[in-house]
Amino acid sequence: MKKQDSRISLVRWQKEIAPGIFCIEIENPKIAKLAQPGQFVHVKTVSGWEVFWRRPFSIHSISEDGKAIQLIYRRIGKGTMCLSRLHDGDPLDVLGPLGQPFDLKGPFSGAFIVAGGLGIAPVRFLVERLLTLNKKILLVWGVKTEKEFFELDVLSSLDISLYLATEDGSEGFHGRVTDWVEKHLKDFHWDGFQGFGCGPMLMLKNLQSIVKDVHFPWQVSLEERMACGLGVCQGCGIRIREKGFQMVCTEGPVFNLLEVEFHGGSFGSN
Ligand SMILES: Cc1cc2nc3c(=O)[nH]c(=O)nc-3n(C[C@H](O)[C@H](O)[C@H](O)COP(=O)(O)OP(=O)(O)OC[C@H]3O[C@@H](n4cnc5c(N)ncnc54)[C@H](O)[C@@H]3O)c2cc1C
Ligand code: FES
Repeated sequence: MKKQDSRISLVRWQKEIAPGIFCIEIENPKIAKLAQPGQFVHVKTVSGWEVFWRRPFSIHSISEDGKAIQLIYRRIGKGTMCLSRLHDGDPLDVLGPLGQPFDLKGPFSGAFIVAGGLGIAPVRFLVERLLTLNKKILLVWGVKTEKEFFELDVLSSLDISLYLATEDGSEGFHGRVTDWVEKHLKDFHWDGFQGFGCGPMLMLKNLQSIVKDVHFPWQVSLEERMACGLGVCQGCGIRIREKGFQMVCTEGPVFNLLEVEFHGGSFGSN
């Protein structure tokens, strides 16, 4: 079976689910069938040259009929602005599924998932898959302020332990999600657990320094700027201990947290 499919998909619907944050459902049965948690799609947000490069988005969920994928995105620049203008039934050029998914094959019995901001995007798909594998799940999700939370009804209805954190203290724990981890890491028994992290680079860097002495594996999904998305342009490289330069688009976006050598730079795009 073909592993990737680039073709015109259809926007089924999209809605603003929090200020500046959108959920879009895109019909593409092949991508929906092949997708695994942690993978992403590369989207040509507008036809023509106005936005040249495709934009990467994590697969958030698969529709109930199994024929469409859902993405969650924040409108922050030209590409996501164009995406937010699409209407039901509009065509959209989507390439995927791309990248390496989370490795869920190990003998672990529980998952400790740490999500920062829109890092929650790939988490729902991950949680749903882990539940089908009968894993215990503890999820902590942190945002700046409670208005940035969405789909709390969905997450609360799942058989998971859910903790919330806000930087301004408007909901849940008062502080960053990594502060929550630092404070509560010793409160739980982690035998048989694996860690999963999704969020901005700085958050993952902090997470690395907090959990480096915890003796269970951590997988994280990295968000590096991308151009081709196919391992060709070498634009999304990151240093991984022992392995050297790796492309986030093909060897990632999921990596072993303790092996990532975090840096500050990224390149511009159009
Ligand atoms: C594997 C992967 C999965 C992703 N999944 C999601 C997702 O599910 N939802 C989502 O909203 N976003 C996700 N992103 C980030 C998303 O691709 C960017 O937000 C998007 O490309 C911005 O496009 P734009 O044209 O609107 O903004 P641009 O005009 O390209 O950029 C606007 C501003 O945002 C900054 N920016 C853009 N992309 C990034 C980035 N990757 N990291 C840090 N800063 C950035 C730019 O430096 C600039 O300041 C993901 C990125 C990767 C690599
Ligand atoms: S984006 Fe071109 S190599 Fe990764």
